[in-house]
Amino acid sequence: MRHISVIGTRGQLGHDFTESLSKAGHQVTGLTHQQISIEDPDSISSAFAPAPPDLIINTAAYNKVDLAEKEPELAYAVNALGPRNLALYCSEKNISLMHISSDFVYGLETSRRIPFQEHEAPGPVSAYGLSKLAGEYFVRALCPQHYVIRTCGLYGVAGKTGNGNFVETMLRLGKERDELSIINDQHCTPTATRDLAAALTRLIDTDQFGLYHATCQGQTTWYEFACSIFEMTGISVKTHPITTEQYKAPADRPRFSVLDCSRLTATIGDSMPDWKTSLRFYLESQEEICSK
Ligand SMILES: NC(=O)c1ccc[n+]([C@@H]2O[C@H](COP(=O)([O-])OP(=O)(O)OC[C@H]3O[C@@H](n4cnc5c(N)ncnc54)[C@H](OP(=O)(O)O)[C@@H]3O)[C@@H](O)[C@H]2O)c1
Repeated sequence: MRHISVIGTRGQLGHDFTESLSKAGHQVTGLTHQQISIEDPDSISSAFAPAPPDLIINTAAYNKVDLAEKEPELAYAVNALGPRNLALYCSEKNISLMHISSDFVYGLETSRRIPFQEHEAPGPVSAYGLSKLAGEYFVRALCPQHYVIRTCGLYGVAGKTGNGNFVETMLRLGKERDELSIINDQHCTPTATRDLAAALTRLIDTDQFGLYHATCQGQTTWYEFACSIFEMTGISVKTHPITTEQYKAPADRPRFSVLDCSRLTATIGDSMPDWKTSLRFYLESQEEICSK
């Protein structure tokens, strides 16, 4: 049993991670945004002063990808300086640190179709992606006992009431509208936070520090993902595949950010479920949102 603190415990991953670690028998302290602000070093020291943990898990982030183009300094403060502050604190106190990063550290290679491995050069195409990459570098440079985890397309139960997610948005729009246009040229792997939390709970037991890609298996596009959501829930809505350019979002996004997770699979001795299996489980476990 270890004493583990989860920062961002009310977020999608933080919520499921807190639950998964407790079930695995660890002593877990969940910290909300009200209890800690990672961009403030004093807030970090006072949050952990009463009982410093063996491991800190940072799931907190500035996740507003489009808004980050207008306020990059805020994204950088939370996503880059936040992990830097945590890495310095952990290194000084001899605490291990797990930091969650993103597939958005990739994107420059637009014609890419082979999943990325951890050793390959990143290349973000947005202020958000750049801030997440800077956060990774700080953790890797400043805290020797680190896990840096790149994941993709997260959805979990806390998204229903918190900051939202793609599945919840599609369920809402699918009921409100007759027709929907959805991007079909961004290739990625939707990942249920419940499955990610379970895999990372096992990783912690290995003490094999380093950089890991961690997503569900397989790949799809946001358009195909949305069609699967509608098919599995029986929602009838006309769907149109469109390009990134047609959608005209303020921030650019990777056309291909599928992550090769074989390093994680080899380390924990198991792979995460296929994205469709995870999606079906998520939808079935919340039957009330499936009835239209
Ligand atoms: N969502 C995705 O599709 C996705 C994809 C790839 C990677 N990721 C990464 O995965 C991680 C978890 O994402 P998620 O979807 O679980 O995020 P989330 O649901 O938005 O949760 C983030 C949590 O962090 C808290 N928080 C925000 N700023 C903070 C700060 N400065 N100090 C302390 N707490 C703060 C938030 O509280 P408030 O809401 O009260 O501010 C929220 O509870 C993040 O690192 C994210 O970058 C996410």
